[in-house]
Amino acid sequence: MLPPHFSSNTIVLLCLFFTLLQATPPLNLTLPHQHPSPDSVALHVTSTINASLSRRQLTSSSSSSTCGTGNPIDDCWRCDSSDWSSNRQRLADCSIGFGSGTLGGKNGRIYTVTDSSDNNPANPTPGTLRHAVIQEEPLWIVFSSNMFIRLKQELIINSYKTLDGRGSAVHVTGNGCLTIQYVQHVIVHNIHIYDCKPSGGAVVAASPTKVGRRGRSDGDGISIFGSQKIWVDHCSLSHCTDGLIDVVLGSTAITISNNYFTHHDEVMLLGHDDKYVLDTGMQVTIAFNHFGQGLVQRMPRCRRGYIHVVNNDFTSWKMYAIGGSGNPTINSQGNRYSAPSNPSAKEVTKRVDSTDDGEWANWNWRSEGDLMENGAFFVASGEGVSTLYSKASSVQPKAAAQVDQLTQNAGVFGGPRDDEGQSGDSYSGYGGGGTGAIGGTSRGSSSNNDNNFFGMIFGSNAPPRPRLTLSLLSLLMICVLSTSTLLLS
Ligand SMILES: *[C@@H]1O[C@H](CO)[C@@H](O)[C@H](O)[C@H]1NC(C)=O
Ligand SMILES: *[C@@H]1O[C@H](CO)[C@@H](O)[C@H](O)[C@H]1NC(C)=O
Repeated sequence: MLPPHFSSNTIVLLCLFFTLLQATPPLNLTLPHQHPSPDSVALHVTSTINASLSRRQLTSSSSSSTCGTGNPIDDCWRCDSSDWSSNRQRLADCSIGFGSGTLGGKNGRIYTVTDSSDNNPANPTPGTLRHAVIQEEPLWIVFSSNMFIRLKQELIINSYKTLDGRGSAVHVTGNGCLTIQYVQHVIVHNIHIYDCKPSGGAVVAASPTKVGRRGRSDGDGISIFGSQKIWVDHCSLSHCTDGLIDVVLGSTAITISNNYFTHHDEVMLLGHDDKYVLDTGMQVTIAFNHFGQGLVQRMPRCRRGYIHVVNNDFTSWKMYAIGGSGNPTINSQGNRYSAPSNPSAKEVTKRVDSTDDGEWANWNWRSEGDLMENGAFFVASGEGVSTLYSKASSVQPKAAAQVDQLTQNAGVFGGPRDDEGQSGDSYSGYGGGGTGAIGGTSRGSSSNNDNNFFGMIFGSNAPPRPRLTLSLLSLLMICVLSTSTLLLS
């Protein structure tokens, strides 16, 4: 059958070659809603801010303090001709950055939460927040009065939902807390979220028809997982067991804006694992946030991906502000970084688990127009240290001098934004002084907890995996079989 010079080795090599050829095309590493040119999105954000601040300067004498602040998100809905409460869905037009175009419950019904209980996570009572968030249809969810919602289990939010806490003081705490998993188009706005604890081992509804047993959760404030088009705006977050906001496993097109973070060790984790290739497409805008008292590290901590950190106020930190590993791109523009008094913690940046600068010399970490206070310094790398980078950004980010103005209303509107001690059991990981606090609460990366994620029982929600699947396996089988047949004959 075969010419004699065809050795079995050649066949094996040929088999491998065709197997690889076959295996490459099905790998699609582009995430849904991933932007092809993240630098252009960042540029658009800075020019939007510039335009908004310029408008404010033109009208400053006449504007009230709630409208015309120069914050492009707030001005978009607070300066609208109609009162915001009669046109709540206007908010959905106001996001900027990678999460812009997040619809939430736009064009859906208004669902009014009237019942603050969470007595039956498997079959929630109509009128509760849990009943609202699991529905399949787009819903704009509002609250009939001030509410303290103590969750029994994670709140699993379905696609096309807005949680709109404007007009009421809405506090969410307990077990969970917010889980945004394998969904799209969710807006979380003006909600207090704190004291979130690990949960699990219980039956929870994820939709009216999908009900199943959940694995253990980490106790994040908001856990964003394999999801796209998510916008978290004007929330106040503190005191959770794990992260305040985690963004992992193929999530992208996300904006985290106008939030008020306090009293927490590991504030924000962006990216699941250094080796998780899909997170290369993770694109997150972090704008106008107030990083306040009692924060230790991870504001954020990034893996892979493109993170635009613009016009935030970092009032202090205990270890570092922005950390990363696995070659993330970090574009820091117009922030105020105010270093702690500890002389060994002045550096804004940290290359996590990386002592060898040969390893990170090419990571693109750049700082432009940032205001460094109290000895803070940013260690740039990659294109960040060369002039190559200046062409990526022809509009100067607005000077950090404007940060006060842009972040003056960060967190939940009105009322206290720092939720320390709201529910009695405050976060114990911070405040012990020294490094004890860090050792005590650090849980490393979420990669330790993968089994929770993949232990999900909801069949239709399989995590995104590269499709190195059957075709490859069957080809290998054929190769092995034919080779051994040949050798035996
Ligand atoms: C890869 O996935 C993205 C997002 O789902 C999609 O837009 C794109 O068309 C896909 N590309 C190919 C070659 O299938
Ligand atoms: C900022 O906006 C103003 C008004 O829109 C414009 O004239 C100016 O050129 C912008 N500045 C930069 C640096 O683009």
